[in-house]
Amino acid sequence: MSKLFSELKVGGVTFKNRAWVSPMCQYSAVEGVIQDWHAVHYGSLITGGSGLVMVEASAVAPEGRITPRCAGIWTDQQAQVWAEVPRFAQRFGVKTGIQLAHAGRKASTNVPWDEPGSVAPSAGGWQTIAPSAIAFEGYAAPREMTLDEIEELKGQFAAAAERALGAGFDVIEIHAAHGYLLHEFLSPISNKRTDEYGGSFENRIRLLCEIASYVRLIVPATHGLFVRISASDWIDGGWSIEDSVALSRELKARGVDLIDCSSAGISPEQQIEVGPGYQVKFARQIQQEAGILTNAVGMITTGEQAEEILSDGAVSAVMIARAMLGNPRWPIQAAADLGDEIPWPNQYARGFTAR
Ligand SMILES: Cc1cc2nc3c(=O)[nH]c(=O)nc-3n(C[C@H](O)[C@H](O)[C@H](O)COP(=O)(O)O)c2cc1C
Repeated sequence: MSKLFSELKVGGVTFKNRAWVSPMCQYSAVEGVIQDWHAVHYGSLITGGSGLVMVEASAVAPEGRITPRCAGIWTDQQAQVWAEVPRFAQRFGVKTGIQLAHAGRKASTNVPWDEPGSVAPSAGGWQTIAPSAIAFEGYAAPREMTLDEIEELKGQFAAAAERALGAGFDVIEIHAAHGYLLHEFLSPISNKRTDEYGGSFENRIRLLCEIASYVRLIVPATHGLFVRISASDWIDGGWSIEDSVALSRELKARGVDLIDCSSAGISPEQQIEVGPGYQVKFARQIQQEAGILTNAVGMITTGEQAEEILSDGAVSAVMIARAMLGNPRWPIQAAADLGDEIPWPNQYARGFTAR
């Protein structure tokens, strides 16, 4: 049996394999409520054989959406509709996670298939908020968050986690990557605050650490708590892999089970060394030096490549995004390529068994 298709226990959750679906926004919600598109999209991914389907960034507050069409989990109604995803997944032994998110200064933008840029409040957008009133190039300027708003945000993450558990998700992931709000607090490029939430490393990581602690109080030991980080800003003087190792130690101490290691997104000035598996080195370093489980993500496209990444145990799982869009049954194909067999859904069995 390959490493990719062997079980993995993280926190209180046992995944049937280590080929996981990475979170992917669908920009197709209405008032934050997922729609029929999501049923088709997640249905195909759930029946594809992954150990974990992590659903898209879901806003903890309306102004935390990347676009007006992004999904949310700030109301009970949104959570009730989300509950269909874990309910369906359970039939296939697939675990589900939800990414709790706030887009900060990168909120209130157009969907990717429209012109890039901000949506004005007069056109259904809103005033964005951030640690400091510094715009992301090409977007409207955010307003600096008050200390009261920072307090409120912690409550929004906690309430969203509670709703997500009620909806039946096995894993809660805090989105602290890709230049969105929690990453904006971490990075010295976007955080110029002079209070206890800005300046030193300890101050910049304070908000994420507090949110992780609050959310852990809500997420029981039977479930998993992940944090997705951008392990590097890929900018001199920005957030670095060394910062990520130190942060991951702190998150581990607060009960986080796994660090989902992505990178970049804080500024268009980033100089990314893109190539197959280009973020794997971050996942390796964090797991080895911070002693917390990690998954790798980014340009992992074949079963052989995923198996190689997992082979020496320095990374515990892989998340796959675009290759899963191209083939939602990627795990079934990858297993076959590695000489393992994982079942097709029963409904398709007649097409793929000798009987
Ligand atoms: C359509 C699309 C939507 C995405 N939405 C999210 C998201 O909601 N949250 C997130 O953390 N990353 C998001 N990403 C990034 C992916 O999860 C992944 O990290 C990235 O695509 C690199 O992996 P890949 O090379 O396997 O595609 C998105 C990527 C795509 C292609």
